[in-house]
Amino acid sequence: MAKILAIESSCDETAVAIVDDGKLLANVVATQIAVHEKFGGVMPEIASRLHAENITVVLQQALDESGVSLEDIDAFAVTRGPGLIGCLHVGLQAAKTLAMLYDRPLIPVHHLAGHIYANEYIGELKFPLLCVVVSGGNTELVYMKGHMDFKIIGRTQDDAVGECFDKVARVLGLPYPGGLPIDQHAKKGRHTYNLPHPYVSGGKYDVSYSGLKTAVINLVHNLKMKGESVNVDDMARSFEDVAIGMIVDKALAAAKDYQVAQVVLAGGVSANSYLREQMKSKLEGTGIDLVLPPLWCTTDNAAMIAKVGEHLYERKYFAGLDLGVDPNWKIDEQLTLLD
Ligand code: KG4
Repeated sequence: MAKILAIESSCDETAVAIVDDGKLLANVVATQIAVHEKFGGVMPEIASRLHAENITVVLQQALDESGVSLEDIDAFAVTRGPGLIGCLHVGLQAAKTLAMLYDRPLIPVHHLAGHIYANEYIGELKFPLLCVVVSGGNTELVYMKGHMDFKIIGRTQDDAVGECFDKVARVLGLPYPGGLPIDQHAKKGRHTYNLPHPYVSGGKYDVSYSGLKTAVINLVHNLKMKGESVNVDDMARSFEDVAIGMIVDKALAAAKDYQVAQVVLAGGVSANSYLREQMKSKLEGTGIDLVLPPLWCTTDNAAMIAKVGEHLYERKYFAGLDLGVDPNWKIDEQLTLLD
């Protein structure tokens, strides 16, 4: 194996990690959440600028923590997409510069492949596998027959589930990002509000979140117009039951139809306690193994990019220095980039 230095900058976390033969030597993350909080969402231009300011500091910290010098690194892995274009550019330029200066390979990594492979820090992936990818920008069911073999079998037809949590939180007056506050309020609430279970006309395992989001926003506005107060705990409970229930139902159906050996959760929303509970209880006794990522893996970091980097290093999946970012890169194109 090898020493890999990985860089992640696709959204609002600037991160650098170093792995040596599978062992994580450094995992430094500089989060910008406090800056974006006041806007109620990530401001792309500010995010790119902060990445540019932070990247060298985070890099130096990772080198100091690991005790490794740049000359010792065998390859530089970097998130090439999906994400915010300006943010991705900062990470890619940094990785390209290092690859050029030290004459080492450059490994392009898909951000969601990173979230999936973060699970390797806690256990072995068992194939065939279904990954429930739930984040602020993506909601996908990914089927994997083997390593690095990704097939999207279900997806959101509109908003990502995390985006829906954030918008609902905003209308309820909760802080950004809204996933955790909703999760916490839902624990204290009862399912008293009648919210629609979205009808999804697409593929069998597709989901849809924009109708649910609009229904909550309209209901809250109507109650306020009538001078009635909104019970935040009950609204959070009612919303979470529908939002999480939908993805759990589709994931279970896909897991059974595809006869998978393992279900893995990935992405920011995989921190949701109700999603974890539901997946655990519904998969119990089915013979399907469930992997719940540790909470540090659910937020963006470069350790997960390094894990994918290791697999791609073994395959000698190296890009030229003319590589560009792709804000809309699809996970099933991870291995076809260099064909
Ligand atoms: O993976 P991530 O950083 O997003 C992208 O890279 O796209 O995930 C962030 C998302 C946010 O929408 C946040 O509200 C949500 O994950 N999130 C949660 C929880 N913790 C974070 N959603 C539901 N329940 C949680 N406990």
